[in-house]
Amino acid sequence: MTATLMDGVAVSKSIRAQWKERADVLKLQGLTPGLAVVLVGDNAASQVYVRNKVKACGEMGLHSELHQFPANVSEQVVLARIAELNASPKIHGILVQLPLPPQIDNTRVLEAISVEKDADGFHLYNLGALVTGGTVFPPCTPYGVMALLDYYRIPIEGCNAVVIGRSNIVGKPMALMLLARSATVSICTSKTRDLRQYTSIADILVVATGKPKMVTGAMIKPGAVVVDVGINRMPDGKLAGDVDFDSAKEKASYITPVPGGVGPMTITMLLANTVQAAERFAAKSLNMRKDQSGTGREAAALQK
Ligand code: GUN
Repeated sequence: MTATLMDGVAVSKSIRAQWKERADVLKLQGLTPGLAVVLVGDNAASQVYVRNKVKACGEMGLHSELHQFPANVSEQVVLARIAELNASPKIHGILVQLPLPPQIDNTRVLEAISVEKDADGFHLYNLGALVTGGTVFPPCTPYGVMALLDYYRIPIEGCNAVVIGRSNIVGKPMALMLLARSATVSICTSKTRDLRQYTSIADILVVATGKPKMVTGAMIKPGAVVVDVGINRMPDGKLAGDVDFDSAKEKASYITPVPGGVGPMTITMLLANTVQAAERFAAKSLNMRKDQSGTGREAAALQK
């Protein structure tokens, strides 16, 4: 069997077109959705990701701002900038690219982002809302994986889903999203004993370990849907995922390539979250105006 490719570039194009229409509606009302990207330090991979995010905003006609700081910047300076961005009417989504240098506390910085502008969905409130089933801004990578699965009409309810990786930004939210759709979910880690015992029962296998080619075809259930979140630079300069694509594609029914699978979907869902944040801002502003004009009318009536 050779698996069908889940093409993140093609699916992104279709989803971005839908969100662009929504962004254009806002622009007609005089509101251009805006994303601020905060980058600290000179991590080469982060620089590429951030450049791609800013470029994608431009392609959708969104406003974007890149706020760059040297690696030795103090936490206080970054927090002060986030406070400014929270107050900026031009900005509806704020993203702080991770990882941050050691002198900066991840949690303090992520908690400083306004819940309403949390386009990455990393704020504790939004992660908590994911547990209770009501998040507005799902974290972009697992959100993108769900969108890919839905695009290819992969049944989720009742299936065995296995997530390898327990990070706050991929593994844990991924597991919660699959659980919310009634999958039976196992979360494996690098310490899992006999990983194959889990992978071999997975109808849907999501791999986010950062270990190149660690999941091979021999570990996969025939016909499984395999989603590779990893992106690793190999010694020969080529990119590889956490799944050994060549052997896995012979066992899987669907598989994501690296690059061109999950990567573009992460950026697509970031754009979606930014437009969603701008829509919520617009709706809130409208309600406030309605309330104010209502209060004005009531005050005028009282004076009569
Ligand atoms: N670092 C690696 N992935 C991500 C991501 O999706 N968002 C942010 N902000 N940082 C990351």
